[in-house]
Amino acid sequence: SPEQLSEWIAAAKARLGSRVAVMGHFYQRDEVVQYADFVGDSFQLARAARDLPGAEAIVFCGVHFMAETADILTGDDQSVILPNLAAGCSMADMADIDAVEQCWAELEARFGSEPDASGRVPVIPVTYMNSSAALKAFCGEHGGIVCTSSNAATVLEWAFERGQRVLFFPDQHLGRNTAKAMGVPLSAMPLWNPARVSGGLSGDELDASRVILWNGFCSVHKRFTVAQIEAARAAHPGVRVIVHPECPMEVVDAADGAGSTDYIVKAIAAAPAGSVFAIGTEINLVQRLAADYPQHEIFCLDSVVCPCSTMYRIHPGYLAWVLEELVAGRTVNQISVAPRVAAGARVALERMLAARP
Ligand code: 13P
Ligand code: SF4
Repeated sequence: SPEQLSEWIAAAKARLGSRVAVMGHFYQRDEVVQYADFVGDSFQLARAARDLPGAEAIVFCGVHFMAETADILTGDDQSVILPNLAAGCSMADMADIDAVEQCWAELEARFGSEPDASGRVPVIPVTYMNSSAALKAFCGEHGGIVCTSSNAATVLEWAFERGQRVLFFPDQHLGRNTAKAMGVPLSAMPLWNPARVSGGLSGDELDASRVILWNGFCSVHKRFTVAQIEAARAAHPGVRVIVHPECPMEVVDAADGAGSTDYIVKAIAAAPAGSVFAIGTEINLVQRLAADYPQHEIFCLDSVVCPCSTMYRIHPGYLAWVLEELVAGRTVNQISVAPRVAAGARVALERMLAARP
């Protein structure tokens, strides 16, 4: 029963004390978040893992790429545990290392690798945090960097200082929305289709590019539509519409604000009582915000509930299990990134952490 699980989790956590830290992404369900020592967006959780003193184990309630990142940023004496190994991310799976290497070889064949007169190389690879460790390592080894939804503009600026153009993967929407807000014209953001030779792009399109977007997306955020925003505005005059930048460009353009999960939380926290918000992001976060801020009216843009099905795979039963195993001296469901991959990925992650103050 849920009560029994709660008792088990609380008892195991009490036995383990500061030897274990539980991290929870904003999209986790409440029954899990209530046991998290740290709750945050993917950038905050990465930084918290890196700066965590002492804990022998981090139990990461989120998805696989987040646990990999925590493993990369923590010491060898700290283990990272993903309570359910089936908690992946469909977007992260949309860019695999072979396809990206193939793309890179084609870009190199066209542009070479020599810097121009101002020292900028032809292409800088930028991966969204929502990607495998192998892709982060690829970026580390090719002069590139990682970004999250909370620092994508800062990271793109970093990349434009060093490169004539950016190859951005896996999320086309975050790449497009961020670059557009920085003034990059849509005509300079062609979409690379990994199934086609040269990504299905002409030589002219490649030459004119500033940001080459990978053809990936989030199946949760691509559900939000402009029609939903129009309906919310009609039903709730004065409503503020805030969406995550993984939403399609038209949706971001029609909203009043777009930003990472932490941006959404902070916008709501800062609003005067009685505000009305329509939010375009994962339902567990929206429902928690509605409960935490009863002085506002907060609802999800999509009336058909849209949870992230892989985040949801972290059931409290798994959390109880991995904690009880730790109490018994056993580490189960450990995520360990191979040292060579971790070294390259760490370079790209550290560049990101340094790029944002
Ligand atoms: P944040 O970077 O806002 O935490 O988002 C992570 C994520 O998976 C969004 O879909
Ligand atoms: Fe991946 Fe989308 Fe789920 Fe985020 S919400 S973990 S991008 S599938």
